[in-house]
Amino acid sequence: MKLFLLGFMGSGKSKLGKKVASQLIVPFFDLDDEVEKSAGKSITELFQESGEEAFRLLESEVMANIISKNEAFVLSTGGGTPCFNDNMELMNQSGKTIYLNVDSTILYGRLRTAKKKRPLIANLSDEELKDFIEVSLSKRNTFYFHAAVIASESNMTAKKILDLI
Ligand code: S3P
Repeated sequence: MKLFLLGFMGSGKSKLGKKVASQLIVPFFDLDDEVEKSAGKSITELFQESGEEAFRLLESEVMANIISKNEAFVLSTGGGTPCFNDNMELMNQSGKTIYLNVDSTILYGRLRTAKKKRPLIANLSDEELKDFIEVSLSKRNTFYFHAAVIASESNMTAKKILDLI
């Protein structure tokens, strides 16, 4: 089975994805890491040198490659992945999508101290970050809610995720 974990930055996709993959004994991929490997650059460098649009193209390309080359895996996507190109459709056609639905106040608490490696928020003040999360989460929810499974806070353990799918 191909499992896709979706959610806003700071929703815990990577941490949970690793645990779910190890329970299922399937490979784990973190899309940001795979994009960095493929480009030979960090996400920050990619945004700075080529811009967001180039990053989004590469992100879609790397994801399509993972999907085509692997039978079963858990993939933790980037926060924006489902919202660009045909990524959401491709994921839903290829396997099971799970949205980690985390409240904006919790995301804010986590992201305040984790801005540095995330170019979209790296230069925002705490006040600006709060607004950014609220505005973009509500826009992105229109994509995220197309996931096959919506996991609430109380379901964000590997065991609960496995029960849900
Ligand atoms: C992004 C989220 C990041 C990374 C990039 C853009 C976004 O991934 O893909 O900085 O658009 O929300 P994480 O969600 O793993 O932080």
